[in-house]
Parts: sequence; structure tokens; C-alpha cells
Amino acid sequence: MAKTIKKIGVMTSGGDSPGMNAAIRSVVRACAYHNIECYGIYRGYEGMIEGDFIKMNARSVKGIINKGGTILKSARSKEFRTKEGRVKAHEQLIKAGIDAFVVVGGDGSFTGAMIFNQEFNFPVMGIPGTIDNDIFGTTHTLGYDTALNTVVEVIDKIRDTASSHNRLFFVEVMGRDVGHIALNVGIGAGAEEILIPEEDLGLDRLLESLRRSKQSGKSSSIVVVAEGDKIGKSVFELKDYVEENMTEYEVRVSVLGHLQRGGAPSCFDRVLASRMGVKAVECLLDGQSNYMVGLKNDVIDITPFDQAVKGKSKINMELLRVSDIMSI
Ligand code: F6P
Repeated sequence: MAKTIKKIGVMTSGGDSPGMNAAIRSVVRACAYHNIECYGIYRGYEGMIEGDFIKMNARSVKGIINKGGTILKSARSKEFRTKEGRVKAHEQLIKAGIDAFVVVGGDGSFTGAMIFNQEFNFPVMGIPGTIDNDIFGTTHTLGYDTALNTVVEVIDKIRDTASSHNRLFFVEVMGRDVGHIALNVGIGAGAEEILIPEEDLGLDRLLESLRRSKQSGKSSSIVVVAEGDKIGKSVFELKDYVEENMTEYEVRVSVLGHLQRGGAPSCFDRVLASRMGVKAVECLLDGQSNYMVGLKNDVIDITPFDQAVKGKSKINMELLRVSDIMSI
């Protein structure tokens, strides 16, 4: 029989993403609603190992729904990858009387949660929080929508200077393994080309496409490049290559970096976080564990951790075609 849950821990782990605070708020308030005690765990698994916990109530999470980052801080813990680290973490949870926890994070955080669950039969639920949207079992991870809006706004600004100087810009966006951000902001910001990890466009095709753009009367161009793109060249190498082969272009590079992870969450991410937090707590109270909550066809559903971690989050191939047509 599943054990009765009276105290739930909540933490954020891995790279931060906008909407994590809204998710903490949701978990804390769902616990308050169900008369369950809630503890915040600082710095992800690092804080769990050290017993860095704080008791939270509905008022502890006031004024954070609109804040980027995470009030509980985040970390990637090396020690939790070891059995000794996980034993320490388990001892700290038991000492504090915490019966279950909710982890907001990405696939590394869920892998840790899954192993912990197997080793100690400890109830745990996950909420996907990463701007990359690279997790199987949800159409949207927390922070992804906000990041898209942030990046589109920035590329609009880059376009102003690109067109004023008739320049070609390579803009690097985040996305180590998947091209969701690049593909969507590329279309949203009207990029001429989009380079993503899923497709090898090839350098020749890139040059050909840029030549076509020039011939068709375009005086400036934006190429959006996902950091993990398949051509395998850095944006700076791409710049050199194009400058060598197309001397008519003046090329500049903009690496957007971590600004993509900051800022106030969009309304979409706030609502998603609120729904996911409630679902995660209610699953634990229903005796469910070892699942990630996710959005599927606008319904909040659950996916076993092992599937969420092993499965692939696929890009929408239709977007590639739309992008080609738009950049004619
Ligand atoms: O997981 C999100 C992500 O933004 C990746 O796209 C990026 O490669 C990585 O985090 C960088 O994270 P950090 O600088 O925290 O190691």
C-alpha cells in the first residue's frame, strides 16, 4: 500500500527557466489547499544532500509568479550521481520527515529522481522546466514559450541594425540537442535560414540560399543557428566561411547566450506551471510516483520518467517547409 503523504518537498534542478517560480508557487499552494506541509529544497540535489530545507506556506510564495529564475536556486549536483550522495540525501529527507518530493528540471534531474525512486522507493514527481523543450511527454516545457518571445524580440532588434548596414547576421540561440527554439524563432523573426541539430543543411546549400536571397533583392539577412546545429561549425566559423566565399557580404555574429533563460515568464508559462504543480501534488497524494507531468493536446497528463528521459522530443517537420517557403 502506498504510504500516506503528509510532507512534500519541492526543488528546482539543472538549468533555470522562466516559470520555475510559478511552479514552486503552485506546488506550495496545492499542498496548502490539501492541508499538506511543504518544504522548499534549496539548490536542487546539492541542497537535498546538505539538508538545506525551508518550510513554506501559501504566503511564502507571494509575488513570485512573475519572476524569472528560481527563488530556491538551482544546481547540477555531481555528488548526487554517486550512491553515497544519494544515501546522504535520503537520510536528510527522512530526518526532516519529508515523504515525497517534486523536482522541476530537465532530463538529468529526472534521471536522478528515477534512480533515487528505485533505490529508496521514495515517491517523486517531475515537472519539465527547461527552455530547450527537449523532453519527451510534453509539447511544452516550462520556460520554452517565454524564451521564444524573448529571442524573437531580440532578433527583431538585430534586424534593425542588419538592414541599416546591409549585413548578414548569424544569430546563435540555445538548443544543444533539439532545434525547437531555432526553428520557431527563425520563422517568427523572418530568418532567411535556420540551422538545427536535426538536419544537416550543408555549407553549399547555405551559400546557395544566401546567394539566392541576394539575387532576389534582399540587402540583409538573418541566419538563426541552434548551438547544437548539425553542420557542426561554430557561428564564428560560419561567418569566416561565408566571408571567404561571398565577399559581397559583410557578416556579423550575435551569440544570445543566457539572456534567453531570464526574464518574467509569459502568461502561457505561468498558467502551465500552475497546472503542472497542482497535478504533481495531486498525483503524489493519489499514490502515484515516478512520473513527469506534461501537456498533451492541452490536457495535463503524466509520462513515466524512463520514457520522458529516453524518448525523443521531435521537431515539427512542417515548420521546416514553412520556413523554406517564407524565405523565398
Ligand atoms: O538546458 C538549457 C540550456 O540553456 C542549453 O541550451 C545550454 O546548452 C545549457 O542550458 C547551458 O547551461 P549552463 O550554462 O547552465 O551550463
